[in-house]
Amino acid sequence: MSQGDSTFTPRPVDADSVSILKALLEADEAFVSGSLLAEQLGVSRPAVHGKLDKLRNEGFEMEAVRNRGYRITKRPDVLHPALLRCALDGVGSEVGLLYFPAIDSTNSEAERRIASGEESPFAVVSNCQTNGRGRLGRVWHSQSAENLYLSVLFEPNIPPQQLQHFTLWAGICICRRLQAYVPKGALKVKWPNDLHCEGRKFAGMLTEAKMDADSIRSIIFGLGLNVNSNPNEFPTAIRSLATSLHAIQGVPVDLNEVAAAVIHSIEEAYAVCIQNTMTAQSLSEAWKPLDALAGKQVTAILSGREITGIAAGIDESGALLLQMPDGSQQAIRAGDVTLKK
Ligand code: BTN
Repeated sequence: MSQGDSTFTPRPVDADSVSILKALLEADEAFVSGSLLAEQLGVSRPAVHGKLDKLRNEGFEMEAVRNRGYRITKRPDVLHPALLRCALDGVGSEVGLLYFPAIDSTNSEAERRIASGEESPFAVVSNCQTNGRGRLGRVWHSQSAENLYLSVLFEPNIPPQQLQHFTLWAGICICRRLQAYVPKGALKVKWPNDLHCEGRKFAGMLTEAKMDADSIRSIIFGLGLNVNSNPNEFPTAIRSLATSLHAIQGVPVDLNEVAAAVIHSIEEAYAVCIQNTMTAQSLSEAWKPLDALAGKQVTAILSGREITGIAAGIDESGALLLQMPDGSQQAIRAGDVTLKK
């Protein structure tokens, strides 16, 4: 589909809202005077009031005290583009941000945007996908605004080998970063593209690339992350297999902060691959403590045949190693694996 066919409209990141939020968030519990905000923005005091009212309508709660100023007492618990931009700047992210209240698929939108000349790298973030795509042609259920659907697009122009471990490495960086939000559960990567906690999936990764003869022109990394949803409300078929960060920790987590943390982790994983600082050994070492399958009996398809073995980490190419009953080792390079109960 071309850009013009898209019926989805992005909600722009309002630069004034970003400036106001930065000033208020930096001040933390302290009040920020209206005149300071007006001076920073180069606008009148009434114009500042107007901007603050707009933020209130968008889910912020503010305390206003005469002669002292304003402070934020509550942030929205849904995605908010200006708040997300503040959080991205706060973690040092350098990606552009495109926020859509709803979209067919953030991966598809990233593809359309690059075709119509959007400057990369950029992230497409949404509350809801009408046609969320999973791996191997599956559907990714994307109706809950409490979850996160995002894609980050890069234009590397480098040989494909250099990015062959990008998804695995992104899984590692995302798990490490998210662990701080949910110390109650051990976050793991389930080869090749799932993030798990105690045997239940809380996120899935979908990487899609466009190639030239010998280089990757663009690479889109998509992540569906269950953040604050209640797994009991998931479709029956996946209910017992899925979890969310909220369910793991027992309390809701800040959606905008988590989105910024995840996007920055994806940038981090990309930088490691691009700068060629990742060796095969550093990947398998980083993988070990996060390996959801290690030591477990799993079934995979190899050359059209079902085989069962004990998962024994990944090799230099990122393939999953299976220790077979006859003592041999088999490398699984693609496809899915299932855990034997
Ligand atoms: C999987 O586990 O099969 C991968 C799921 C990937 C889902 C994400 S949600 C954001 C991005 N847009 C999509 O259409 N899919 C990915």
